[in-house]
Amino acid sequence: MSEIPWWAGEGLWRKVAVWVTAGSFVVLIFLTFDSIEAISAGSQRVPAYSVINQQVRYEFDAARNIQKPVIGGGAPLFGQTLDEAEAEALVTLGKKTVQAKNCMNCHTLLGNGAYYAPDLTKAWLDPAWGSETARETLMLGFLMDPTANARTYGTGRRMPKLDITEQEARGVIAFLKWMSSIDTNGFPYNFKSLAQESRS
Ligand code: HEC
Repeated sequence: MSEIPWWAGEGLWRKVAVWVTAGSFVVLIFLTFDSIEAISAGSQRVPAYSVINQQVRYEFDAARNIQKPVIGGGAPLFGQTLDEAEAEALVTLGKKTVQAKNCMNCHTLLGNGAYYAPDLTKAWLDPAWGSETARETLMLGFLMDPTANARTYGTGRRMPKLDITEQEARGVIAFLKWMSSIDTNGFPYNFKSLAQESRS
């Protein structure tokens, strides 16, 4: 039998495998906690739920070459200022409605979903909703009866009526407003915000 060189021995590679696996495991645990912190509401890029009481607008960040969210002054949703717990409850109702009605079948939210219908990540700031004050009312009407209030973007695609209650629709709007305040590193890329939002 020929002599096996030191680097080809089974013992060495067994040790390497054990150390690499153990090392990756430690890195994975660290990254898991790091990601959870980075995606929690109230962190640097993901505002607390009570952001729905404030104006959300976008500004071009030349250094990062992206549109980044800027939180402005008071602009309570439906004229009601909510505390953090109430805001969280409303946004959660919206998120659960979005999950229960499977909006992702047609839409994309934060990169997950389909592209049959418009991306919802920044739908709160879609210029098509027109003025800031009319927006929440228009959205409410649209969500509760999309067939009667369809805009269709010239595509002829229609959103079906999903039997959402008024409270659920308000929750969805709160969820969309909160989502639009998240700094997503410029995603979705071609997003352009309302012209009238450029004032602070
Ligand atoms: C069967 C596919 C389908 C499902 C499911 C669906 N939508 Fe839509 N949605 C559409 C289409 C198509 C449009 C664009 C047509 C239009 O505006 O009339 C649209 C438009 C929208 C818009 C306007 C987008 C913008 O950029 O302003 C919002 C907001 C919206 N949908 C929210 C929802 C929510 C919330 C749900 C789940 C509760 C949902 N949709 C489920 C098809 C769907």
